[in-house]
Amino acid sequence: MPKRFLVKSYGCQMNVYDSARMGDLLRSSGHVETNDQEAADIVILNTCHIREKATEKIFSELGRVRRRKLARARKGLETQVVVAGCVAQAEGAEIKARQPAIDIVVGPQAYHRLPSLLQGSSLSGAAIDLEFAALAKFAALPLPERAEIRARGATAFVTVQEGCDKFCSFCVVPYTRGAEMSRPVEAVMAEIENLARHGVKEITLIGQNVNAYRGAGADGSIWSLARLLGRAASVPGIERLRYMTSHPLDMDDGLIAAHRQMPKLMPYLHLPAQSGSDRMLSRMNRRHRADDYLRVVEKLREARPDIALSSDFIVGFPGETEDDFQATLALVREVGFASSFSFKYSARPGTPSATADGQVDESVKSERLLILQALLDEQRRAFSRSLVGRKLEVLFERRGRHQGQISGKSPYLQTVNVEGGDDAAASSAVGALRSVEITSVLPNSLAGRLVDTRAQ
Ligand code: SAH
Ligand code: SF4
Ligand code: F3S
Repeated sequence: MPKRFLVKSYGCQMNVYDSARMGDLLRSSGHVETNDQEAADIVILNTCHIREKATEKIFSELGRVRRRKLARARKGLETQVVVAGCVAQAEGAEIKARQPAIDIVVGPQAYHRLPSLLQGSSLSGAAIDLEFAALAKFAALPLPERAEIRARGATAFVTVQEGCDKFCSFCVVPYTRGAEMSRPVEAVMAEIENLARHGVKEITLIGQNVNAYRGAGADGSIWSLARLLGRAASVPGIERLRYMTSHPLDMDDGLIAAHRQMPKLMPYLHLPAQSGSDRMLSRMNRRHRADDYLRVVEKLREARPDIALSSDFIVGFPGETEDDFQATLALVREVGFASSFSFKYSARPGTPSATADGQVDESVKSERLLILQALLDEQRRAFSRSLVGRKLEVLFERRGRHQGQISGKSPYLQTVNVEGGDDAAASSAVGALRSVEITSVLPNSLAGRLVDTRAQ
């Protein structure tokens, strides 16, 4: 019997992609998606384990899910609760002891087996599948259908690489996602071509370490990310390309040159630095120095002068002194970021730095985070202000909050809102690239007006 399912996604873009593919899979097994939490017969939480807060959020949501499950049971309705993603992988069978309402625990590389796990789970205790089987997973997933692609809009993620071999000393990803693996070129291309056929104009190639991509081509040769981007750019209908997340060590000259050579590659790159202190970078096992990061930035700017950068930073890593923190601020000032994420260090069980000497006080972490975020925010606003009066190509993704408004993304991934005209005009702009003159900067978006390119 068809069931109603709901997938809630937490964490990074990899999870957003996985959640969409879980949806495709369940729909192809005859189930129907719902947004109504009370109505869902299958509730899937696709979880994130990256910081303590992320994991805590999952357990409080599971508490609410349990109460809904009990309320539905009183009406004679069965609910299957699935924990997928990185918390599932990290906690395994033990998660059931913390929350007995869970029926299925499935890891990020095993969710292609969800349909059979769902069939089996009501019979016994929790069904658990945490096998690392990334290639088998991709081979087993159905391509999304036209209606689904249309509903998701003009931009799409495509996972090309999974897992991580870098083992930064603070990070759980190598444990939750397993070893690095790249999808074969033809499998990636089939997915991109299917998306493009149904109106997708922008593709973001994603991976925990996407620029470490080494995928097998049809003839067995190994392709780099730069070569894969070149092939993706040739797909009819694809007008914009992005990739994330990159490690500075894997920003090789070929990939930097792609930014010079490929107009479809957007002039925006997320390149996490984590810290500006060599001592911290070494303790973090980032395997590069602050100088190396700056050199990559310089080369990128030589190749593509208008490139905008974003980054991730961690403050209060074990052993971080005031000088180390100042070195991070110095790096930020030197580079100038268009946007960034910054976090207080969170000790994660099983990672080497969780037990390292010199854990930093919470109050010091909070203070440093405030200072860093103020600087990053100032840079973000300065970058946005520099765009006022400029014409940018905006890919419109959806209708805005009020009548006639449409909302899209600039080349630099900023949200841009404009008045799209009457209903018909606004509808036809959604899914299209249009030229927009930026008129003002709002706290979290830009405002602009459509430029009638036909009149020029
Ligand atoms: N693969 C990417 C990002 C992985 S996680 C990369 O290599 O950069 C996203 C971000 O979360 C990281 O860049 C890091 O800044 C942050 N992060 C990871 N583990 C963390 C921890 N234990 N505490 C605080 N922030 C963390
Ligand atoms: Fe984590 Fe480092 Fe791998 Fe990024 S490169 S996923 S931060 S271990
Ligand atoms: Fe979180 Fe896993 Fe992504 S820990 S950040 S969902 S890889």
